[in-house]
Amino acid sequence: MRLETERLVLRKPEAADFDAYLEMWSDPEVVRYLGGNVAGATETAAGIERMQQHWERHGIGLFTVVRKEDQRIVGRTGFLLWDPDRWVSALREELDGPLETEVGWTFARAFWNRGYATEAAIACRDLALGELGKGRLVSLIAYGNTPSVRVAEKIGESLEREDLRGAFTQRVDLYSLGKRPAR
Ligand SMILES: CC(C)(COP(=O)(O)OP(=O)(O)OC[C@H]1O[C@@H](n2cnc3c(N)ncnc32)[C@H](O)[C@@H]1OP(=O)(O)O)[C@@H](O)C(=O)NCCC(=O)NCCS
Repeated sequence: MRLETERLVLRKPEAADFDAYLEMWSDPEVVRYLGGNVAGATETAAGIERMQQHWERHGIGLFTVVRKEDQRIVGRTGFLLWDPDRWVSALREELDGPLETEVGWTFARAFWNRGYATEAAIACRDLALGELGKGRLVSLIAYGNTPSVRVAEKIGESLEREDLRGAFTQRVDLYSLGKRPAR
């Protein structure tokens, strides 16, 4: 699966993306609202593998985002499935049953504030609501992550629930678009 926007190409992650992910995940500012722990080489390689396994198991996942202009990897954006009772993601555990689909975004600091996250997230939202037939999308956002909330709002999400109380080390709020399924 591959998506294209005006400035970006979204494609499945590859082992060769390692340097770009290491640069991104070893930056304390980038991981500040993603649990706060910077990654080293081992965690980065494992993180790429987990994204690949998510694609294999579920047919959707997070894309590596490449800038068309110079082929540089600028971040990742895409889908992540969650158990809606325990708020554990399919990157961590094999999940089944009814799952929530998150659209998420992380970019390297050098590429913030140019509208890339919004551009990539819109393409993912349109794919999900169109071809993938999803009636609902969520985004899990740590409290205080204003740029991320702005991206959520710009793709049409709004705050649904404060403080999910999953296995998070930070307060995480749920943003969504589309109706919440009865359960
Ligand atoms: C969240 C993130 C992906 C946003 O990426 P981005 O490419 O800068 O996003 P965009 O340029 O599309 O939009 C950013 C918006 O936030 C706003 N913004 C940026 N910094 C801000 C701040 N400190 N306070 C308020 N608004 C801010 C921008 O003005 C822009 O909104 P606007 O278009 O209404 O002006 C990026 O900051 C990031 O990678 N952060 C670290 C990882 C992360 O936290 N990911 C989200 C996990 S839920």
